[in-house]
Amino acid sequence: MVQGRLNVGVIGCGYWGPNLVRNLHENRLCNRIIACDLVPAKLQKIAVRYPAVELTTDPEELIGRLDVDAVMIATPLSTHFDLALRTLQSGKHVFVEKPFASSSVQALRLIEEADKRKLTLMVGHTFQFSPPVIKIKEILDSGELGRIFYISSTRVNLGLHQKDVSVIWDLAPHDLSMILYWLEEAPTEVLAAGKDFVQKGIPDVAFLFLRFASGAIAHVQVSCLAPSKLRRTTIVGDAKMLVYDDTEHLEQVKIFDKGVHFKDPDTFGEYQLSYRTGDIISPKIESSEPLQAEVADFLGSILHRRKPLSDGEAGLRVVKVLEAAERSLLNSGHLEVLPAAGRS
Ligand SMILES: NC(=O)c1ccc[n+]([C@@H]2O[C@H](COP(=O)([O-])OP(=O)(O)OC[C@H]3O[C@@H](n4cnc5c(N)ncnc54)[C@H](O)[C@@H]3O)[C@@H](O)[C@H]2O)c1
Repeated sequence: MVQGRLNVGVIGCGYWGPNLVRNLHENRLCNRIIACDLVPAKLQKIAVRYPAVELTTDPEELIGRLDVDAVMIATPLSTHFDLALRTLQSGKHVFVEKPFASSSVQALRLIEEADKRKLTLMVGHTFQFSPPVIKIKEILDSGELGRIFYISSTRVNLGLHQKDVSVIWDLAPHDLSMILYWLEEAPTEVLAAGKDFVQKGIPDVAFLFLRFASGAIAHVQVSCLAPSKLRRTTIVGDAKMLVYDDTEHLEQVKIFDKGVHFKDPDTFGEYQLSYRTGDIISPKIESSEPLQAEVADFLGSILHRRKPLSDGEAGLRVVKVLEAAERSLLNSGHLEVLPAAGRS
């Protein structure tokens, strides 16, 4: 650390890692960046854009350096646990891209190591830093939608098929991290169906169903085998309804003053059901890059010794749902009952 500014390593400079490097480069709390990838050609691209960034093809060398304060990991899921554990064990703060870890056992182990060493552990739930997602949280917390009946989320497009993880582990962390953040509760029941159409053993289409103790239910559809890109979430409450479309540039969030009133009848003749359709309001939402806020939260949490918004516990809650969904999918849609929230 140099005068309150951190030296930060980035491991994994494939598709996503360069975005972390760019946001570190633009953050005044970052002093030096050390980029690491096993493939020299990936580092060459970083060198062309950011000549001041130090480069290494050896993650061990980076993790062992005494002048590095923190490491951000953007490698494939199968490598997250080993790299994150070794980073923590060498006394450095760590940020791990979603999905946090391959199992809840691994996630718990990382949380314990970070707690023991009083180090910051953050998970890359980028959508929790997205202005429309934060605005929706404010709307839900204000009670404007009333009691939440259900959330339905669709995240589909053509590609990118991952070599090692199913679409559940690759795409669903985005929707699950949003839903758990909005509702502030973890599901008690999870059910999933899906299929491996293109690569045998790696499902590329999945439908998840979640049930919450509050009475709310949720549905998440993820696919990398769809004709067009959809990023759409509907939230239906007993007072109003909301649609969030992340592919829109303007009016990403719309609140519909729509609902239904049902008067419990004493007799059949009193049966009354009335539908209400009122205004559609699109709240003003600041435009800013979620990743910029996410990187700022990681560095700020380290320097001010506070918990990041998407900490290890948030990562663990999502991993538990992913595990349950995968179990269910492999068991022909068996209903998985999750233990009450907590670390067990
Ligand atoms: N938050 C988001 O919105 C978001 C978006 C995309 C990807 N991601 C996540 O980022 C991670 C990386 O995804 P990607 O699409 O960039 O993958 P990728 O395959 O394009 O890149 C991974 C890179 O890591 C390197 N690598 C692998 N093992 C390594 C090791 N042990 N040491 C150093 N380098 C190593 C590879 O050479 C490769 O360049 C995944 O966890 C993914 O889910 C997050």
